[in-house]
Amino acid sequence: MTIEVIESKLFAGAVADEIVQILSEAIEERGSASLVLAGGSTPAAVYRSLGLPPRVEQIQWGALRVYLGDERWVPHSDAMSNYRMANETLFQKIAVQSGATTAPQLFPVDTSASTPAKGALAYEQLIRTQEKLKQNELPEFDLVLLGMGDDGHTASLFPHCSLSEGDIVGVATHPQEGEKPGGVRVSLTAKTLKNARRLMFIVNGDAKASMLKRVLEGQESEVELPARLFVEAKGSVSWFLDTGAAAQLSRKGA
Ligand code: 6PG
Repeated sequence: MTIEVIESKLFAGAVADEIVQILSEAIEERGSASLVLAGGSTPAAVYRSLGLPPRVEQIQWGALRVYLGDERWVPHSDAMSNYRMANETLFQKIAVQSGATTAPQLFPVDTSASTPAKGALAYEQLIRTQEKLKQNELPEFDLVLLGMGDDGHTASLFPHCSLSEGDIVGVATHPQEGEKPGGVRVSLTAKTLKNARRLMFIVNGDAKASMLKRVLEGQESEVELPARLFVEAKGSVSWFLDTGAAAQLSRKGA
């Protein structure tokens, strides 16, 4: 596990540069790459940086398959939709900014399905097809981006909650939001996220500092703090923090 602490004003650009590097290496090695996006508000500035020169010209977007790590059960037009955020901050800009570059394949969760469980099942089947998985095989995404909530959740893996478990995709309900719009979520499962080649947490802001210390340096269980599920994952795990989020850590880099 590595920890990178970056000055707040340089944070989005530094994270975007690391994403360009990882995806370019994966495409170089295997001819294409799979990227799983984090939702919420933190990644928006990073996605904007990726969608502008010079970075937008540094990625072979046509070689990318892009998924969502989790999605709120709302229409894609809803302000709470992670798909909408990713589209508005990055994917709508790629064609404009990079001209002839072919667009990436961005796979949203179909939140128009009749139930979240059906939506989760359909997303699982889509991932199996696109990632050419054998029966019972888990996807090995090249890069998974994750945020961390101030309660220690990540994706839609909430404290003391379990996903209605599919193998790859399940359904969760936010403990505070409940059935309110945005409360019901479709999320990749912990075992799927842990199976990624690279996991990259993107956490910034003073408000996350105390929770980050508990997650990275505490002893609480993964049930209490699901972000701790990934402290020891199969692939490489990196935490990209701004100085505010890292303020209470006793070790700032590793
Ligand atoms: C979501 C995210 C969620 C997010 C954290 C942090 O759909 O909300 O996937 O896991 O990453 O809640 O959110 P912020 O970046 O908004 O603090």
